[in-house]
Amino acid sequence: DTGMFTFDPGFTSTASCESQITYIDGDEGILLYRGYPIEQLAEHGDFLETCYLLLEGKLPTAQEKSDFDYRVTRHTMVHEQLLRFFHGFRRDAHPMSIMVASVGALSAFYHDSTDINDPKQRMIASMRMIAKVPTLAALAYKYHVGQPFVYPQNDLDYTSNFLQMCFAVPCEEYKVNPVLSRALDRIFILHADHEQNASTSTVRLAGSSGANPFACIAAGIACLWGPAHGGANEAALKMLEEIGTVDRIPEFIARAKDKNDPFRLMGFGHRVYKNYDPRAKIMQKTTHEVLNELGIKDDPLLEVAMELERIALSDEYFIEKKLYPNIDFYSGITLKAMGFPTAMFTVLFALARTTGWIAQWKEMIEDPAQKIGRPRQLYTGAPRRDYVNINQR
Ligand code: SDX
Repeated sequence: DTGMFTFDPGFTSTASCESQITYIDGDEGILLYRGYPIEQLAEHGDFLETCYLLLEGKLPTAQEKSDFDYRVTRHTMVHEQLLRFFHGFRRDAHPMSIMVASVGALSAFYHDSTDINDPKQRMIASMRMIAKVPTLAALAYKYHVGQPFVYPQNDLDYTSNFLQMCFAVPCEEYKVNPVLSRALDRIFILHADHEQNASTSTVRLAGSSGANPFACIAAGIACLWGPAHGGANEAALKMLEEIGTVDRIPEFIARAKDKNDPFRLMGFGHRVYKNYDPRAKIMQKTTHEVLNELGIKDDPLLEVAMELERIALSDEYFIEKKLYPNIDFYSGITLKAMGFPTAMFTVLFALARTTGWIAQWKEMIEDPAQKIGRPRQLYTGAPRRDYVNINQR
C-alpha cells in the first residue's frame, strides 16, 4: 500500500455527463442531433436551422427560422478595433493560432453580454459567437493570403456570406456559386456537434468554472487543433498528397499497421465509431458533387483516397480493429477543390463546431446540478518521504 488515493470510477467530471443534444451509436454508425438523423438534416435543412435545433432543442417554424437568420446576420460584423488585432501576427502564422487568439479576444469586446447567469445574455453571447466566428475565420484566411479584409454582406445567407468574405477581392465582382455554397453549408451541418469529444469536453470543463463563453470556445478551438482530433482533416490531405499515387498505398498501409511506426492513417479510426462514420458517407457524396460542379475529373487525391479506403477496409488489421474512414478522410479533398488552403481546414471545422460547443456550454450552465469539473487521478508517484538537505543528497 503506497498510500495512493483510491480512484473512484463512479466519480464523474463534466467530461462524462448527461446531455440531450447529440446521440451517437458507434457500433451502428448512427448520429442524431436532438433526435433527428444527420442524413435528413444534411439533406433537407441548412446550417442555421441546425444551429437553431442544437440551441433550442426543436426545429424552428418558418417565422422562428426567419427571425434567427435575421439576428445572426446582424451580428456578423466584429468590432473595428479587432481588425487591428490581426496585423500583430507574423505573416506565416497558422490560421488556427489566429482563431484561438481572436475568438478569445472577443471576451475583451463583448464583456457586457457575458453575465452567464442571465438567460438573455447567454443567448446574445451565443448568437454573437455563431455570427462572428465565420467573420474571424475569413479574416484569418485573408491575413494568411495577404489580401484585403472583406466585410460581411447582409443580403447573403450565412455560408454564402462566409465564401464572399473569403474569396471576394476589390478588383472584381465576386459571385457566390450556389452549388458550392450549398455543399459547404452541408459540410458545416456534418461538423456542428458530436457529443462529448475532446474539444467539447474542453469547453464544458472551462465553462464549469464560470469562465466567459468566448474564452471557453477559444479553449475548444485550441483542443480541436490537434492532429488526433480536428487537425486530422489537414493531416489527412497532407497524407494523401504524400502518398501521391495508388501504387504507393501498400507502403503506407504497412506503416499504419507497424506498431513501431508512429504513422497512422489520418482520417481513419475513431474513439466511438467502430463502424463507418455516417458523416464520412455524406462527405464522400458531397466531394463528388463539388468536383463535378468544378469540372474536376479524375482528381488524383480522390483516386488515392478511394483506393486507400478500398484496400484498408479489406485488410484484416483494419477489420479486426474496426477502423473506418471518419469525417476527416474526404473533407480535405472537397475543401481544397473549393479553393481553401490546407491550413484553413481545421478553421472550417472550428467554425461549424462553434455551434455545438456553445449549445453544450449553454446546456451545462443551465443545469442546476452543475458543479465545477474536477477529474480525479490514480496516484502512482512516490510515497510520503522526508526532505533531505542538499549537502546530504
Ligand atoms: C475527430 O471524438 C470525436 O467525436 C472526434 C470527432 C468529432 O466530430 O469531434 O469525430 C472528430 O477527431 C475524428 C478523428 C480524427 N482523427 C484522425 O483521423 C487521426 C487518425 N486516427 C487515430 O489517431 C485514432 O483512430 C483516433 C485518435 C481517432 C482514435 O484513437 P484510439 O482511441 O487509439 O483508436 P482506437 O481505439 O480506435 O484504436 C484501436 C486500435 C489501436 O491499436 P491497439 O492499441 O489496439 O493495438 O487501432 C489503432 C490503434 O493504435 N489505430 C490505428 C488508427 N487508429 C487507431 N492504426 C492505424 N491508423 C489509424 N488511423
